[in-house]
Amino acid sequence: MNDPAWRAIGAGMTVLAYAALCASVYWRQRRLRADNARAAAALAGGDTGQQALVLFASQTGNAETLAWKTARWLHERGTPSRLMPLNDADAETLRRAGSAYFIASTYGEGDAPDGASVFAERVMGGAVADLSSLRYAVLALGDRQYANFCAFGRALDEWLHAKGARRQSERIEVDNGDAVQLAAWQAHCSGSNAEAVAEAPVSAPQPWRLVRRTLLNEGSAGGPIFELAFTPADGSAAHWESGDTAQITLDSDPGRPREYSIASIAADGEMQFLVRQERHPDGTLGAASGLLTSTLPIGDTATFRIRPHRGFRLGGNADRPLILIGNGTGLAGLRSHLRARAARGRRENWLVFGERNARCDFLCRDEIASWQQGGVLGRVDMVFSRDQEEALYVQHRLLQAHEQVSQWIASGAAIYVCGSLNGMASGVDAALRQILGTAVMGELSAADRYRRDVY
Ligand SMILES: Cc1cc2nc3c(=O)[nH]c(=O)nc-3n(C[C@H](O)[C@H](O)[C@H](O)COP(=O)(O)OP(=O)(O)OC[C@H]3O[C@@H](n4cnc5c(N)ncnc54)[C@H](O)[C@@H]3O)c2cc1C
Ligand SMILES: Cc1cc2nc3c(=O)[nH]c(=O)nc-3n(C[C@H](O)[C@H](O)[C@H](O)COP(=O)(O)O)c2cc1C
Repeated sequence: MNDPAWRAIGAGMTVLAYAALCASVYWRQRRLRADNARAAAALAGGDTGQQALVLFASQTGNAETLAWKTARWLHERGTPSRLMPLNDADAETLRRAGSAYFIASTYGEGDAPDGASVFAERVMGGAVADLSSLRYAVLALGDRQYANFCAFGRALDEWLHAKGARRQSERIEVDNGDAVQLAAWQAHCSGSNAEAVAEAPVSAPQPWRLVRRTLLNEGSAGGPIFELAFTPADGSAAHWESGDTAQITLDSDPGRPREYSIASIAADGEMQFLVRQERHPDGTLGAASGLLTSTLPIGDTATFRIRPHRGFRLGGNADRPLILIGNGTGLAGLRSHLRARAARGRRENWLVFGERNARCDFLCRDEIASWQQGGVLGRVDMVFSRDQEEALYVQHRLLQAHEQVSQWIASGAAIYVCGSLNGMASGVDAALRQILGTAVMGELSAADRYRRDVY
């Protein structure tokens, strides 16, 4: 058959598949709305009139963790509650809730985290009815090192207030996990003077023994990246899912745990990381990355907490094709997913990975090659920005491959992005919006088919 005929058939199939995607998204949204309406009706009715909604806007899980604690504190004082990601709520849910507690983090340049992007765009950006029936409180999570401190929590609070909702208390802003502010929130929720809570849906701290450290990018123009392997020092079994992270807390900086994407699966028997050695302008090493990549001797132990990263797990996408996009140490989170996929014999995986030079920065080359040979990776695009005159990044490759991106999405694929927020994740997001359109991106986020672990 001639080229135009093939193109016409291809285009027809893309349109059909796209129509199927829209239909499936429509039905899911309908179901979600129905669920929300039922929940709201339950909240509004009879003996559940005292029930509160706890809504979280979270990227990496802190806000979600605090939402669970908030629900427990409310429960302890006799207020039943229902937990919900902000993206699952609409104006009607809020109007009928009566009472709501919002826990919201901030990302990017003062933006909503992914778990609230749909809400921010559609509900806060839409024409919303009066919310004067709602009483609410906002806990805003942020970090003063960023220019737009707690910007999304503030915007949410101001929007609720502008829509007529009544504040139960003034907004509480938490700088970098500040214990005093968290205790104030706990006191508000529990109605008492409770001290800050330690319990969280992260695992208990556990000692891990460093058994291997390998430099992966010798001669690189970028900072050195090491693969680290740890085994449980106390012999106990550890559990995590691909996509999860582990936190290490330093004695020198107890208020700011450092987070690392786990690059292996539990079946490997080792917790592995890909860590870039950070060097400060004064020549000293990054506090945590310096310990992990340099000063911690092989055979010594470090204490980690494993943190379920629900927003980046495979979850409901386990049986879908996956487009995995990342750069640098972002390969860690993608690698754990690829190992999980290989272990389950799932083949439809497309890796789009960016670094500087193929000669030094082709991380995990052998493992990627073996996945290609074994069919785990159906397509691989390695994008080396400095190997040609013009700088080329993963987002450019996505734009070049826009037809395949659309086809994969039409056939049900989910997108996972791991690595740098600045440059990579924002560039990828813009490219995907250009290829798929803002509406489809919104549907993908709402259906948890667009997931990011970016930092
Ligand atoms: C969800 C998530 C997942 C992550 N996954 C990974 C991963 O898989 N691999 C990875 O390598 N990283 C990952 N990170 C980043 C990691 O958590 C750390 O932020 C990173 O390793 C730097 O920490 P550090 O303690 O070494 O650096 P720090 O010592 O905290 O320094 C970091 C920055 O602070 C400033 N700074 C601190 N002290 C000084 C000083 N004395 N002089 C000048 N400037 C200073 C500088 O701007 C410096 O660049 C992840 C982060 C998140 C949020
Ligand atoms: C890449 C990145 C960007 C961030 N941007 C901001 C910001 O602009 N303003 C702010 O106050 N906090 C910012 N933060 C801090 C987060 O809001 C804070 O760590 C919060 O506890 C994260 O909660 P979560 O795990 O629920 O997403 C940022 C954090 C990261 C890792």
